[in-house]
Amino acid sequence: MRKKIVAGNWKMNTTLQEGIALAKDLKAALAGKTVKCDVVVCTPFISVASVAKEVEGSIIGVGAEDCSAQEKGAYTGEVAANMIASTGAKYVILGHSERRQYHGENNALLIQKLQQALANGLTPIFCVGEVKEERESNTFKSVIEGQMAALYTLSAADFAKCVVAYEPVWAIGTGLTATSEQAQEVHAFIRKSIADHYDAKVAEETSILYGGSCKGSNAPELFAQPDIDGGLIGGAALKADTFMPIIEAWK
Ligand code: PGA
Repeated sequence: MRKKIVAGNWKMNTTLQEGIALAKDLKAALAGKTVKCDVVVCTPFISVASVAKEVEGSIIGVGAEDCSAQEKGAYTGEVAANMIASTGAKYVILGHSERRQYHGENNALLIQKLQQALANGLTPIFCVGEVKEERESNTFKSVIEGQMAALYTLSAADFAKCVVAYEPVWAIGTGLTATSEQAQEVHAFIRKSIADHYDAKVAEETSILYGGSCKGSNAPELFAQPDIDGGLIGGAALKADTFMPIIEAWK
């Protein structure tokens, strides 16, 4: 059965000290609890190693929010997938809409990043999603299909190592959440597309997370949808108090 996952995306919101404190809080909040999903925190590069150390031995998995498309070398300011893996982190978010929008990330680049992540044993959390105009003009399915094309360059065996996150851009950080019906429609569409490109078994086993103003109040309804396997959480992941109810939405 495919994994249920609740993953935090801290974005550019935490200093090293704040990140460690948040990881400590979350570890304490989870201690002794039986949770029904995998819990992941994706942190700024500056804190990946310290957070990985802080949560070692707990159920919390750690990830980065991006990685370089290059293996190593003269790429000032870049962080390679093997460096991320060397901290004990196991995940990396790739293709987040903010990277696509502010850093011009496209499929050609994301294919290289996927290859780097997979070559270094990291699980990519690969984000897709339409902007408001694409939702309004009803072109969102072809947009998402176009973004999924980067993943479809992978073999079925490599694709099976990836997690997909559907994040409608108009719902990110805006307080506007896709209704559970809107989200379910796209998740089912993505799963069908995966079945068409690989096969039904690969599609059934792919975890597809929802992201975009997901919080404790709407997580239960979203997670009750048959094709929603968890969430990628921004704002509500910045405090253990707001992140925990989303984790606990998996009963
Ligand atoms: P949000 O962000 O939960 O703050 O909307 C989600 C994301 O961008 O991953």
